[in-house]
Amino acid sequence: MAQVSPRRQQCAPLAAIASAVPETLAAPAQAAWTIVDRLQLDSVAEREAILQGLLAPSAYLAPKLFYDSLGSILYEAIVETEEYYPTRTEHTIVETHRAEIAAIIGPHRQWVDLGSGDSRKAERWFDTIRPSRYVAVDICASAIARALARLAGRAAPPELVGVVTDFSSALDVRHALISAPTLFHYPGSSIGNFTPREALDFLRAVRDHCVVRGSGLLIGVDTVKDRTRLVAAYDDSLGVTAAFNLNVLRHVNRLLEADFDARDWRHVALFNEEESRIEMHLEARRPVTVRLLGRRRCFQAGERIHTENSYKYTEDAFRRLLADAGFGSTRLWTDAARDFFVFYAEASGR
Ligand code: AVI
Repeated sequence: MAQVSPRRQQCAPLAAIASAVPETLAAPAQAAWTIVDRLQLDSVAEREAILQGLLAPSAYLAPKLFYDSLGSILYEAIVETEEYYPTRTEHTIVETHRAEIAAIIGPHRQWVDLGSGDSRKAERWFDTIRPSRYVAVDICASAIARALARLAGRAAPPELVGVVTDFSSALDVRHALISAPTLFHYPGSSIGNFTPREALDFLRAVRDHCVVRGSGLLIGVDTVKDRTRLVAAYDDSLGVTAAFNLNVLRHVNRLLEADFDARDWRHVALFNEEESRIEMHLEARRPVTVRLLGRRRCFQAGERIHTENSYKYTEDAFRRLLADAGFGSTRLWTDAARDFFVFYAEASGR
């Protein structure tokens, strides 16, 4: 299961946002944007899925559960740690090559921002690319509403649309798109939180949305590198990532009326070389029995709950994935140490 948007501060449902109307909707008459709410999370089904994960012989939790309001703040702190290089490296690559990348993408695209969060990464492109239409896609209605309200205040903003959806299981935003050359933007290496099989399905879905010539995908990808640096990025010296990982237990306590005590667990980050992925786990420090929706689960000391995978790619492996998904020619920008890749993949060539 992939995590959707890392920047989800104070996520509130659309119905709770004063200036927006719930359900499939247009924004209020005076507003300069539209938000379509496609998120119909069946909370009973969601809770059941979480419960099944925790009752499984090898317990697991979906990484999207990290991002409650505290988890979102902790994620913002992770990207500031010395050890977590992906965000700042991607930023440097984009700043270094912005003009060249913009020239290749072309101006006046419909810009679809996947996991848009606060939309700041996309907004940095507005002056160079001048999108004609901006479609923010995120699981968090309130983040979209805040971002679109800010963007509406720009001089000559593009047409602004928001889509509230969880695209980690399936991407379908066709209803919100117009027939125009479209740029899909998926920065930040969130593609690594999908398994390679899920990543392929996701990239195929993006490719299937690219129906007009001149469409493509701009995507950030974290690379395979020295294991010590990889593990340090997910086990920083300040313990921010550990807090982020442990915080998922508080979230589960609220969702499943559970009684996890974070002090019974420790954060584990390891690099699984065979799978080319960082794994995050929570490991029981002692025997623990937890109540979950009226059920019980016993964990032995040392037993783990698997909370996240973050796959790391070689250039060849990711090029292959893009080709298998049906993309045509690809361009790659990287930093001197090849710590991070930014790919632009054209949708032509089918
Ligand atoms: C959101 N995603 C790209 C992050 C990553 O690196 O996989 C999530 C994260 N987990 C721990 N640190 C950061």
